[in-house]
Order: sequence, then C-alpha cells, then structure tokens
Amino acid sequence: MWLSDARYVAALANAGALGFLTPRSFDGLDAYRAALQNCVRLAGGRPIGVNITQSRRAKENASVHAWIDIALEEGVRCFETVGPSPDSLFTRIHAAGAKVIHKSAFVEHALKAEQVGADAVALVGCEAGGHPGTNELPSFVSGALALRHLKVPMALGGGIGDGHQIAAALALGADAVLMGTRLLVSEEIWAHDDYKRHLVRQPAEASTVALRASGNPWRVLNNETVHDIEQLEKHGARQYAEFGALATGRLGRDHCYARGDWSTGLLSMGPAIGFADAVEPVESILIRLMTDAQKAVTRLSAMSAATAEIATTFRQ
Ligand SMILES: Cc1cc2nc3c(=O)[nH]c(=O)nc-3n(C[C@H](O)[C@H](O)[C@H](O)COP(=O)(O)O)c2cc1C
Repeated sequence: MWLSDARYVAALANAGALGFLTPRSFDGLDAYRAALQNCVRLAGGRPIGVNITQSRRAKENASVHAWIDIALEEGVRCFETVGPSPDSLFTRIHAAGAKVIHKSAFVEHALKAEQVGADAVALVGCEAGGHPGTNELPSFVSGALALRHLKVPMALGGGIGDGHQIAAALALGADAVLMGTRLLVSEEIWAHDDYKRHLVRQPAEASTVALRASGNPWRVLNNETVHDIEQLEKHGARQYAEFGALATGRLGRDHCYARGDWSTGLLSMGPAIGFADAVEPVESILIRLMTDAQKAVTRLSAMSAATAEIATTFRQ
C-alpha cells in the first residue's frame, strides 16, 4: 500500500520476481490505469501482478471489480487477493483466463481458498509486515501445517529477509516466498531517503504490533504513533473510528514516506527489517538473496548422504 507503484513493480519484474501493484494507492481509477500502463511498459512484457485487498469496511470495496477489470484490460494475468469470500473475484479473474494467488494468515483460510478455486495460495505468519491477521503462529509453523494438506502451490511469507530463509522455505515444501519488508529499502521505492536510511539501521526488534485490541492487528515500525494509539487503547478505544487520523495509512504516507518523518504514522514493517543493511536497487537485493539461497542449497546437498544414512539407521 502506497509504495507499490509502477517503478517498483517493474523493477521486480525486470529482476525476475513478481511484484503486485496496489490499486488503493492511487487517487481514482484513471490514475490507477495510467500507473498500470506505465508499469506494463517499464516491465517490457515481463509478468506483473495486481493486489486486490478487500477492506473490512465494506464502503472501501466499491472499486474492487473495477480494479480487476482495468487490470485485465491492460493485460495483467496475475492477481493476489486478500480478504473474506474471494469466490466472486476468482470467477471474474478466471473468466478472463488469468490466475489468482489468495493470501491469508490462517491455514484453514488457505485451504478454503484452494477449495473455491485459488490457483495458488500465499500464507503469512505473524511476522509479516502490514496486516498479518489475528493468527499468532509464525510462518514456519503455519507453512509446515498447511503443506500437509494443500495441493495448489504455496508461497510462504512473514519474516523472510535472507537467502538462507528462502532455501529453508523451499526445503519445507513451499514453492515460492513472499517478501515485503526486506524490499522497503529498495532504491526504486519512492519513500523519502531519510526513512530508508533510518530503516537500514533498525534491528529486527524495531517492529511491533499496533491495534491488537481492535481485532485488526497491524505490524509496523515502533514509533510515536504506536505509542499514541496504545494510550488511546488504555482509555478504552477499540473501534477503528476511535483512533481518528492516527490509524489511517495516509498519515504515514504524508509524513513519513513523503517527508521522511518516521515518527509519524503506522508504517507497515516486520522483523525482516533486521536483514536490510543498505539502500540498493531491487536487482542487487535479489541477487544477494538468491546467492545466499544457493549457498544454503549447496550446504544441504552436501549433507544429503549423511541424512540418508541417519534415516536408514533409524529405520533398522
Ligand atoms: C509497506 C508495506 C505495505 C503493505 N501493504 C499491503 C497491502 O496493501 N495489501 C496486502 O495484501 N499486503 C500488504 N503488505 C503485506 C505484504 O504484501 C506481505 O504479505 C508481507 O510484507 C510479508 O511479510 P514480510 O513483511 O515479513 O516480508 C504490506 C507490507 C508492507 C511492508
């Protein structure tokens, strides 16, 4: 949200990953379509995706079908959906011959999405930046449990910011990983340089969960807005409206992303920030990640004779 624009999504596509543009970030349908057209052009025919996040507040979902139709008209063939009852979205997407990955925080929701036609699922643990849901299981527990039942491909997300973790997720049985936080320090992210330079200094512990009591937890950078929200919660605030401007994403967009003031706004970010050590182009980050993933795979391969021997010994 706010950051996943044409330049960033195209940079991911050009570096060999799949990025998702977020329609909510744009001021109206025309601006969204223009961004998509720009993204398609910058990506030079490589696949790009669109994220369709359904809000808990129904009035914020009025454009969901229009977002899908515009993306289809502009040639997008991959969607990530988030939120309850995605069946009607799947029908619309499939009717155009496109594919959909449904993202959820609960294993049972991932299984339900598979049942109603998702082509793939993305499962995030409680470490995920943004809205990780109310499930408190970490990605490696949820992921391993889900893989016992899922038949469609699964991308695992939440807390992944290092190549060794990518190899570990693949070893677990995942088909891909989903990453948000680690890429916040990409050069192609339009957020203010002061913010990105602040992020590369942050340890994994700099992330916290705000609004837990409201039932819609938000994993963010620990800052003054988080503190202000905690004070309101201490005085009984629970409903979204009771937090006023503090709980809106626009506060962080206008103060932090636009001006570099990281003390203000709920700024989506998870503990994977602990792996972000430099502001670099997307491609450099992905090369480092995949080089480390390859090292981990080589290490595991070297161990395969030993693990086979141990397995045989125990079988006897
Ligand atoms: C700045 C930021 C904004 C995000 N906005 C959205 C969003 O609008 N819709 C969505 O489905 N997920 C959103 N997410 C969640 C990511 O898509 C992804 O699930 C998450 O970042 C994975 O966990 P990680 O942050 O530990 O890598 C956001 C994450 C971040 C860091």
